Amino acid sequence: MAEKKTFYITTPIYYPSGNPHIGHCYSTLACDAIARMKRMQGYDVMFSTGTDEHGQKIEKKALELGTTPKAYVDDIVANFKRLWKTLDIQYDRYVRTTDDYHIKTVQNIFEKLYKDGYIYKSEYKGKYCTPCESFWTESQLVDGKCPDCGREVTEASEEAYFFKLSEFGPKLKELLLDPEKNFLEPKSRVNEMINNFIEPGLQDLCVSRTSVKWGIPVTFDEGHYVYVWMDALTNYISLLGFMNDTYNDYEKYWPADMHVMAKEIVRFHSLIWPAFLMALGEPLPKKIYGHGWITFGDGGKMSKSKGNVIDPFVLCERYGVDALRYHLLREMVFGSDCPYSNEQMFARINSDLANDLGNLVSRTVAMAIKYFDGTLPEEKEFTEADNDLLDQLDQLPAFVGETFETMRFSEGLAKIFTVIARANKYIDENEPWKLAKDDSAKPRLAAVLYNLLDAIRRVAILLAPVMPHTSPKIYEQIGATEENTTWDSAGVRHALSSTVTVQKGEVLFPRIDIEKEVEELNKLFPAAEEKGKDLEPLKPLTKYDNFAALDLRAVKVISCEKVEKSDKLLKFKVDDGFGERQVLSGIAKYYKPEDLIGKTLAMIVNLEPRKMMGLESNGMILSVKYGDGYKVVEFDDSVLPGSDIS
Ligand code: MSP
Repeated sequence: MAEKKTFYITTPIYYPSGNPHIGHCYSTLACDAIARMKRMQGYDVMFSTGTDEHGQKIEKKALELGTTPKAYVDDIVANFKRLWKTLDIQYDRYVRTTDDYHIKTVQNIFEKLYKDGYIYKSEYKGKYCTPCESFWTESQLVDGKCPDCGREVTEASEEAYFFKLSEFGPKLKELLLDPEKNFLEPKSRVNEMINNFIEPGLQDLCVSRTSVKWGIPVTFDEGHYVYVWMDALTNYISLLGFMNDTYNDYEKYWPADMHVMAKEIVRFHSLIWPAFLMALGEPLPKKIYGHGWITFGDGGKMSKSKGNVIDPFVLCERYGVDALRYHLLREMVFGSDCPYSNEQMFARINSDLANDLGNLVSRTVAMAIKYFDGTLPEEKEFTEADNDLLDQLDQLPAFVGETFETMRFSEGLAKIFTVIARANKYIDENEPWKLAKDDSAKPRLAAVLYNLLDAIRRVAILLAPVMPHTSPKIYEQIGATEENTTWDSAGVRHALSSTVTVQKGEVLFPRIDIEKEVEELNKLFPAAEEKGKDLEPLKPLTKYDNFAALDLRAVKVISCEKVEKSDKLLKFKVDDGFGERQVLSGIAKYYKPEDLIGKTLAMIVNLEPRKMMGLESNGMILSVKYGDGYKVVEFDDSVLPGSDIS
């Protein structure tokens, strides 16, 4: 027998520096749906996920809590696994960077790259905070001081190993631009990688530290520990047994078919990871997919603000796992960010799942029971009026397969629901209730119901990777069997037994009373902050000159920190293209300061300076009202600080 074709798909390995939230779910859900589809298509699938457990942040957190880093991560890892179980994520392997086999692989790779001259010893220079024992980069400092404790830092250096990333620029550029490979999706990220990182010249990468001790020891130099990305990225091959004896699947599954992640770590996967592999002389992964972020009503930050409960455990318990899986995969357009709101999820459940899909199934099954006691007769009369629905169904599997495996779930799912709507319309066009009144029309009635049941079978198969609990419930109601619910059978007309017996089942998706449900959630999760009231009244007309008097510029955030004793104010140091200036902005509730560093924002730079909480603000950062909070107006990296906004 021919060997099955393999398919290897990965999620990022998550930092267990806090408990998992709904944002973490998207990559994992997308990978799970693709893995399920590929299994249905007959592939031998390896789907991996895991946790990235080393580093300074974890070391510090554990210390604060008076526990060990390992004990600390063990607890959080258990929560990640519990979430994946709740979401019915069928991963094949879970890698922890604290697992022995992973440690072995990282150490072996480090040794090999050192022997081959790709890793060399040098000095890491930075700003050092002695009490915190931490190095910081210039841009991480807040007013030139340690961002953690606010104390003075000093210029310091430590011995460290570096990877010769700088040697790989041309090869990486070639890889990213290869039209055959389409290595990185979406394509828009390719230019970003080339213009922002390769063209300015790649810097060698620091791959060890002596000051961060919660890491993998460098075998040949005591006191050195492997640093961050070399440890993390290696997971994709350590879990297959590359340079370790625990697993033995490297030859079988590598190179990966796709690495999935959100946009902020595309750089590490599309530049550093291929460079490591090139240096090792190993094959490169086939594709890197960087999707957008799930954002929240308060401008991106996770909070339990009113009516926006986003605890995935609660959502699954109240509305079902499949509703959450469907909603997230349906809403996110690949490459763009996707705001999450409970209201939107309820609207989706009601319109797509309860109305369109749920009604189609319940109406059809009810009619088969009412008119034929649940079992269709052999004799059927098909007509040309059936062709449009059947043609649409014929085209569906290829489209869905292609969109799902390229992370375009929203397109694929939208198409499935167009065909579901077509099937509902087919009921209205053929009016089975009228056919039922005429005995001579029974063969036509049987054909109409058979076409509908078979249509339901075919869409349910295609929905199974996304809604693994719902499809089997549908199969049971429409009398579908194992043979006629394979992926391939979705492409086959009338695979359902022609004298099929149906049975009434539970309501697939009960309708949600949106207002009531939002209230319920509010009761469950009391508001952390009051909702904004009315819109500001419109202002009176003003002269053009008043607008023209404003000097509006793009500025780049150099540092950002919370203002002490203020829960509103953030203090920024920005580069306005000519120099640095300090500005305050009342958006502390909506952003973590560190998330704003490096962003290019819009600012009025000629406002008279004013003092808030004893600090001078020289200008005003522009923000837009977003849900209950604010979002800064921002530009992409191609906009230079100091550029005029008009
Ligand atoms: N440990 C690194 C990844 C190493 S991979 C070799 C890391 N971990 S992380 O915990 O910060 O996870 C980042 C990933 O979590 C994102 O790339 C994305 O897959 C997922 N998400 C976390 N929050 C998210 C959203 N709000 N929206 C969508 N996905 C996000 O970076």
